[in-house]
Amino acid sequence: MIMILPSLLIKVKIHKLFRNISTSKYFFSEELNVHRDTKDNNADTPFEFSEANVKRLSAIIQNYPEGFQRSALSAAMDIVQRQIGWVPISAMHKVAEVLSIPRMRVYEWATFYSMIKRRYRGKYNVKVCVTTPCMLRGADTILQVVEETTLCCTGGVSADGMFGVDIVQCQGACVNAPVIVVDDDYYEDVNECDVHNIIQTLRCGRIPPWGPQSDRFTSEPITGKTTLIEEPPPPGFGLQPSLFSPV
Ligand code: FES
Repeated sequence: MIMILPSLLIKVKIHKLFRNISTSKYFFSEELNVHRDTKDNNADTPFEFSEANVKRLSAIIQNYPEGFQRSALSAAMDIVQRQIGWVPISAMHKVAEVLSIPRMRVYEWATFYSMIKRRYRGKYNVKVCVTTPCMLRGADTILQVVEETTLCCTGGVSADGMFGVDIVQCQGACVNAPVIVVDDDYYEDVNECDVHNIIQTLRCGRIPPWGPQSDRFTSEPITGKTTLIEEPPPPGFGLQPSLFSPV
């Protein structure tokens, strides 16, 4: 018995080492959280706010009390991205300068929120949601079709610069899964054919109608409403008579 035990243990260990392990598809994080200087993205990359955006940003800063300009950080980053399509580190430095905050505050913001593109992501940035509800409704097939139709791998930019494809986590539209997002527009309930049509329409320079691509209205059941179908009660319904103010 004493002799058998060690060999049995070795067998169990070897079995554990070589057993088949089933996992779901493995995705690397789509963005590196640290900045690495590149030829196109470094502290000397030229960036200045356009004249219109200087006015826009100063109007937004006026909304906050003196000393609290940092509250305009999200708006400032959004303005940068809408101006040039992405946010290089030199633009982050500019934002820090305009808002009089440490650069680190801007870096923290930029590495936390995934809506900011820290590198050029094509004319159209196609984001495919791969969180559980979308996955259960075929997001992996949708991602594959997106890659095939855009001729672009996840994390890359197509050779013609038209499309950048990214995977993202829940976009808050799970009830209409699977979901893809192109810049600001949500395309929901998409199937392979819808993805193909959306990409081809974008390629022709037109914006396809956003929202559910199925026949349903917003997130209602496809067969129509099943609740809240009666007329809503008027204001004051159910109030105690003593609470009505005298006319
Ligand atoms: S899981 Fe895809 S939108 Fe929520």
